[in-house]
Amino acid sequence: MPALSTTSLVAVIGAGAMGAGIAQVAAQAGHPVRLYDNRPGAAAQAVDGIDRQLGRLVEKGKLDAEARAAIVARLEPVEAIEALADARLVIEAIVENLDVKRGLLRQLEALCGADCILASNTSSLSITRLAAGLDHPGRVIGMHFFNPAPLMALVEIVSGLATDPALADDLYETAKAWGKQPVHTRSTPGFIVNRVARPFYAESLRLLQEGAADCATLDALMRDAGGFRMGAFELTDLIGHDVNYAVTRSVFEAYYGDFRFQPSLIQQELVDAGRLGRKSGRGFYDYAEGAQRPDAVALASDLRVDSCVIEGDLGAAEPLVARLQAAGIAVTRRDGAGLLRVGDAVLALSDGRLASQRAREDGLVNLVLLDLALDYGKAGRLGIAWAAGTSAVARDQAVALLQHAGITVSPLADIPGLAVLRTVAMLANEGADAVLQGVGSAGDIDLAMRAGVNYPKGPLAWADAIGLPAVLRTLDNLQAAYGEARYRPSLLLRRHVAEGRTFHDQP
Ligand code: NAI
Repeated sequence: MPALSTTSLVAVIGAGAMGAGIAQVAAQAGHPVRLYDNRPGAAAQAVDGIDRQLGRLVEKGKLDAEARAAIVARLEPVEAIEALADARLVIEAIVENLDVKRGLLRQLEALCGADCILASNTSSLSITRLAAGLDHPGRVIGMHFFNPAPLMALVEIVSGLATDPALADDLYETAKAWGKQPVHTRSTPGFIVNRVARPFYAESLRLLQEGAADCATLDALMRDAGGFRMGAFELTDLIGHDVNYAVTRSVFEAYYGDFRFQPSLIQQELVDAGRLGRKSGRGFYDYAEGAQRPDAVALASDLRVDSCVIEGDLGAAEPLVARLQAAGIAVTRRDGAGLLRVGDAVLALSDGRLASQRAREDGLVNLVLLDLALDYGKAGRLGIAWAAGTSAVARDQAVALLQHAGITVSPLADIPGLAVLRTVAMLANEGADAVLQGVGSAGDIDLAMRAGVNYPKGPLAWADAIGLPAVLRTLDNLQAAYGEARYRPSLLLRRHVAEGRTFHDQP
């Protein structure tokens, strides 16, 4: 399928943060672009802003002055919507209001040629609803950029019920030609990213609410063990709690109150208090001048340990063994149930059960559970939780062992699935349901989460790497522990485990 020719006129409506960014992207790709906003002067102002942005790139040596001039020459601010009549593609990025957007689309349908594509950058409205009632709903499609559009690679190409599939393919190729990483998705609440990302926030909020650890410790675990750029608390402080909470609510309501998406009372309280994050000076953290960010809690040990015994296979935590050996720990291996013994302590990767429950059920004394790490060979930090009755000595031995390998150890309360493991399991679970429901392919969902929200690994590829049986077991155990539908495993995950396949098996 062909991308739009760069001689085709692209029109962008709405010269705010998104519209200006999208206009810049299209002009940089070589299209003549007309930018229109119903606020007089706003389009011209936006073009000036783009020119200044490009000027900064020239100063940094990332763009030459000629290219800057050529891009800006292709950008034409216009003061009347009629000037968009010749456009081959219109992308609207106006106010997020269904009726206003539908009114605009009706106006464009009368104004533009029959082959003009009508794209919306909406992040939450249904493309199906936007198109309904038009004479040619087949040419309405979502083209969802991320903020800031010139920098973020992801574009969700969103098909409504009536969208012409050939059009979705053309727009996909066009986004690619613009240097973006497009994914196909269907018009369902949250599309891919705003749906699959919900557990990233929700699980940390829940862990905080249930006293698993404080914000700084949970954030540090997400960064240093999970490999995420930011933890959920620092990230929502940055996004703004009003915005993040509103997205969660809208997805929750759109799925008829499915508890998977249940908003958090803790976040609601922040919104009620006006603690919106960085922009208001306070959210989970204090941004006042001179305010100190609290440190993550870490355990330290003076003990020396020089050997350990591995019984069986540690599952996803197996790379820890090579790291211990590289640190000079003598490792003895024997058959067993995936346990690491050091002194009196028995360590194991969490399987979603409480430590105390597992200790009792499996007859393990001094059980210390390990949280998930993206890469146990490199992780700077690891979360642990221990069963009631675990001796202080055993705990100390577990900490000493990990510390010896250069790992900072952060304690968590005895909470099912610990922090990183349950978050990743829930992200993968949401991704699995999105695949099951035809919202996107496994490859597109993973790409969307890497390119749209910078996850270190696509959640489905991550689940494949952990092992789908282990992910399913974790979710089954979480569901049993909480007795809540929130943690119910996706049918697709269960089916893949039953079939012995992974998300990324080639059919
Ligand atoms: P914004 O408020 O910065 O800009 C909207 C612009 O549209 C304003 O300049 C306004 O004057 C203009 N406008 C409003 N009604 C208009 C109309 N009827 N005709 C012409 N111009 C009109 O908003 P922002 O953040 O750029 O968002 C725009 C759209 O992009 C929304 O649909 C939003 O959901 C979506 N979006 C926003 C993202 C973000 O992070 N801000 C990310 C992805 C999508």
